[in-house]
Amino acid sequence: MLLRNLWYVAGFSRDLPAGQKVARKFLGESVVLFRTDAGELGALEDRCCHRAMPLSDGFVDGSIIRCCYHGIEFDKTGACTRIPGQDRIPAAAFVRSYPIFEKNAVLFIWMGDPAQADPATAPSHRWHSDENWAWSGKHYALKANWQLLVDNLMDLTHLAYVHARTIGGNPEMHFRTHTQVKREGNTVTAYRHMPNSIPPRTYVDAAGFKGDIDRWQEIEFEPMVIRVLTGGCEVGTGAYEGKRDHAFQMVFMHAMTPESEDTTHYMWTAATNRIDRGIPEIVFKQIDATIDEDTAVLESQQRRMSETPGGKLVDIAGDNASNQVRHVIAGMFEAERNTAAAAE
Ligand code: FES
Ligand SMILES: [Fe+2]
Repeated sequence: MLLRNLWYVAGFSRDLPAGQKVARKFLGESVVLFRTDAGELGALEDRCCHRAMPLSDGFVDGSIIRCCYHGIEFDKTGACTRIPGQDRIPAAAFVRSYPIFEKNAVLFIWMGDPAQADPATAPSHRWHSDENWAWSGKHYALKANWQLLVDNLMDLTHLAYVHARTIGGNPEMHFRTHTQVKREGNTVTAYRHMPNSIPPRTYVDAAGFKGDIDRWQEIEFEPMVIRVLTGGCEVGTGAYEGKRDHAFQMVFMHAMTPESEDTTHYMWTAATNRIDRGIPEIVFKQIDATIDEDTAVLESQQRRMSETPGGKLVDIAGDNASNQVRHVIAGMFEAERNTAAAAE
């Protein structure tokens, strides 16, 4: 099951310089994303209405994309603007277009009913647009269902096991630390504070901590991204009272956009407030290695789940936040079903 009526992250703005195009599949549908020479975005069905050639094999030229087979041209609305060798353009000569826009250096696409596509409802990620922060990101082709990724990110207790060599820290601390979970509308947040913690290796490399630190993890699910705010500072220096300017902070954006039922565009970014040092290559590599630890787990889970459809899965206490998100997602599915039923 795939949700349609929401903004999905389609990529990063930097993926699409003026005059370029990229082919991607979202929710099982092949789409060509392109940017006109004037900088406007287009997202079209990646199938020419003449003989089904992928438009992504063609070329962007000025304000149109031209099919590479017989040269038919389409604008960003999907309208056919030119057919070589004839003046008449048949009424059926158009391709589907999808709402697309960008903010905070992120491309958002709407795969559902275009009439419901309001850009104001897309998630924001202000750190990408704040000059006091530096960020870097990656697009990973995940061979697993998008909900497994949501579960993973909302669940903090796996850190001690899956990430023992990177951001893990002490297993007992992770299980003993109380997680507060809050739900407001379709947003779920999970907060954990860990005073007097041993700093993980990534933090030491990035900020040079010598002793224990006060550490926090704050996770926010807002369909269909998960923001993770983490950081640490010297013990007792005000992190839990909101004084964090002196701290080492990292903010992650994790976007999970279904490519199909069991493959996902996993697009993530990491930002730090140490603009003077940027994100040192070593820190980004460690984050990447940490995320590789997760994606390996998710792809192994997916293989077993595909072998055992409907197989038993038992909840434990640490599943609270991910289960809250599952409730939100179930509600969104229900809402889409009701809307579709009312329209029939
Ligand atoms: S298939 Fe596209 S122009 Fe013929
Ligand atoms: Fe993880």
